[in-house]
Amino acid sequence: MIYQKVKGMLDYIENEADKFRYIEKCVTDEIKKHGFREIITPILENTEVFVHSVGDESDIVTKEMYTFFDKGNRSLTLRPEGTAPVARSYIENKLYSRPSLTKLYYFGPMFRYERPQAGRYRQFYQFGVEAFGDSSPLLDGDLIYSGYKIFERLGIKDIVLKINSIGDFLSREAYAIKLRQYFFSYRDRLCEDCQRRLEKNPLRILDCKVDRNQPYFRTAPKISDSLTPASRAYFQKALDYLTLLGVSYEIDYNLVRGLDYYTEIVFEYIYQGDDDFKGLAICAGGKYSNLISDFGGPDIPGIGYAFGLERIMALMDRQNLFPALDSGADIVIIALDELSKEHSLYLANILRNRGYRTEIDYYHTTLKPQFRFAERLNALFIIIIGEEERINKSITIKNTKRKTQETIKEEKLLDYLKEH
Ligand code: HAM
Repeated sequence: MIYQKVKGMLDYIENEADKFRYIEKCVTDEIKKHGFREIITPILENTEVFVHSVGDESDIVTKEMYTFFDKGNRSLTLRPEGTAPVARSYIENKLYSRPSLTKLYYFGPMFRYERPQAGRYRQFYQFGVEAFGDSSPLLDGDLIYSGYKIFERLGIKDIVLKINSIGDFLSREAYAIKLRQYFFSYRDRLCEDCQRRLEKNPLRILDCKVDRNQPYFRTAPKISDSLTPASRAYFQKALDYLTLLGVSYEIDYNLVRGLDYYTEIVFEYIYQGDDDFKGLAICAGGKYSNLISDFGGPDIPGIGYAFGLERIMALMDRQNLFPALDSGADIVIIALDELSKEHSLYLANILRNRGYRTEIDYYHTTLKPQFRFAERLNALFIIIIGEEERINKSITIKNTKRKTQETIKEEKLLDYLKEH
């Protein structure tokens, strides 16, 4: 029986893991410049954290969560996203008592029971940011810009920023009434989920994966016609700041996002290249004015976004953006008999202590397989120790790039390495 990984989940092996960490390093380096500090929350949360925030009519909550009961009969869920856990932690740890804005970033696995396909997995990694404490279009513009800077830092091309405002509570109440009236005349054609959403949360209909390509969706009322003057002005200000920062955008009046906590500005960075990824969101987010108070905290707004790591990685592969990631060894020690093997173990650890990535072949005592091993690791130096070297307290060292070989006293080895 050969076990296989869980459907929709990935192994990252060697080079792939190096690429993964390279992305992590670039994005965290970049976001720290924008004043964000890291937050690490548990991968499991009480199920209610997501039901209450993402929304009980959302696809995530109704279809995609990995939920189970623990031995104490508590309903727990593997986090499908990062905003709700961070908001939960922000309140639980009273971070709101700080006098100023709190800017947090996170990086970790998320779980959604979706239909796996290119760029869509059941376990995927998100890099996300959340800023709590200010309701200001200036913050919104600056935060959206930090996402733009991450694309720039990674070198990813063919990305467009789509942005919309879904307004404040009053705007959305007015819009929900219009939508309910509009879709009521199409109710027999709506899928089963949308028929239910029509009553409970008509905005979610716009996000339906089954119905959204139907012709009557195109003529549905637009949120832009229901925005209050305050929401309209807020949106315009944020757009002005984006222009000031040199970020071009497209207003997409159909963009509503599939999570219930959003208010005012929502946005997605979409890939628009000419391949099967076209239209895929690489990063998405928005403002949420009421999530903290809905969770029982004070009336404090938040805004954030999350990148999907697998999607970044696939695009970077396609656009050839990874540097030559050197995953081999600096030095491989070849030993030609048992006593030399012992000595190579000792020598390898001296070299490692000096910072050289050093490997030995633990098994073979003949040259050929050990040379093959060194080649596979792309070793810059190959050290050879046999009986003769041992007796003379010397080593033979090969510089594989310069194609030189010499025998030197072992005590001179560190000097030799420094010089070469
Ligand atoms: P989301 O749009 O559900 O938003 O996910 C954000 C990003 O995660 C997507 O744009 C995509 O790149 C990636 N993603 C989502 N699902 C998958 C999947 N099944 N496989 C691979 N990648 C995926 C959120 O999660 C919000 N919490 C974002 C946010 C933060 N809003 C405010 N703050």
